[in-house]
Amino acid sequence: MKVIIVKDYAQMSEVAAGHFIQLILEKPNAVLGLATGSTPIGTYENLVKEYKEGRLSFAHISSVNLDEYIGLEPTHPQSYRYFMNEQLFDHIDIDKSQTFVPSGMAKDFEVEGKAYDERIEVLGGIDLQLLGLGNNGHIGFNEPDTFFSKGTGSVELTPSTIEANQRFFEKKEDVPTKAISMGVGSIFKAKKVLLIASGQAKAEAVREMIEGEVTPACPASILQFHSDATIIIDEAAASLLEGSY
Ligand code: F6R
Repeated sequence: MKVIIVKDYAQMSEVAAGHFIQLILEKPNAVLGLATGSTPIGTYENLVKEYKEGRLSFAHISSVNLDEYIGLEPTHPQSYRYFMNEQLFDHIDIDKSQTFVPSGMAKDFEVEGKAYDERIEVLGGIDLQLLGLGNNGHIGFNEPDTFFSKGTGSVELTPSTIEANQRFFEKKEDVPTKAISMGVGSIFKAKKVLLIASGQAKAEAVREMIEGEVTPACPASILQFHSDATIIIDEAAASLLEGSY
């Protein structure tokens, strides 16, 4: 696990985008694993800028997203498909038919999850998976548990995640309580993993992930065992770390 501590959110976003830019220049048909939430917005802004200034093309890129809320149509403004279009896909030359987000409207989430993992295999696996970090240590929507989830499937969101996500919805009752998420096993198969976290609210989860024991009680801690995981955190998110990095 490589840990990079940067000054603030802006620097985290630039450094994270740099990893994607390098990959896309080296491998123009790379498979990108993408995340939603507040943390990656700055990273996507940097990628859009790079495209608009003519230094980067996504024409041969495919992407797979980590998760989607169950019950939200792709056209719902809080759906993760909508988020990805708004924050990234609508502003770059990616072929949208090659961008995949699990369906929150599937009839059978076991079938949808299996098909999603097979899709990733057919694409040749994920070259670089971007991750945010839940305040409770979740990655994707894999909440703290007594075991690590393997493949993509439906998950129940914990009260703390529902509360954290409430900021995007008018009322708490509107926040979905279930999601379909790539499993920890699906995420772990990515060739490279890049986790980004910013702000004091993430400091405890960051410490557990980097310096705690590897346990499904902190799903992100599994990244300690990944052969090519890079963690980019700002000073506030790093504030509870005891080691020097
Ligand atoms: C999003 C996702 C989640 C978020 C995490 C952090 O696709 O899978 O794990 O990365 O909840 O969210 P933010 O960035 O909003 O703090």
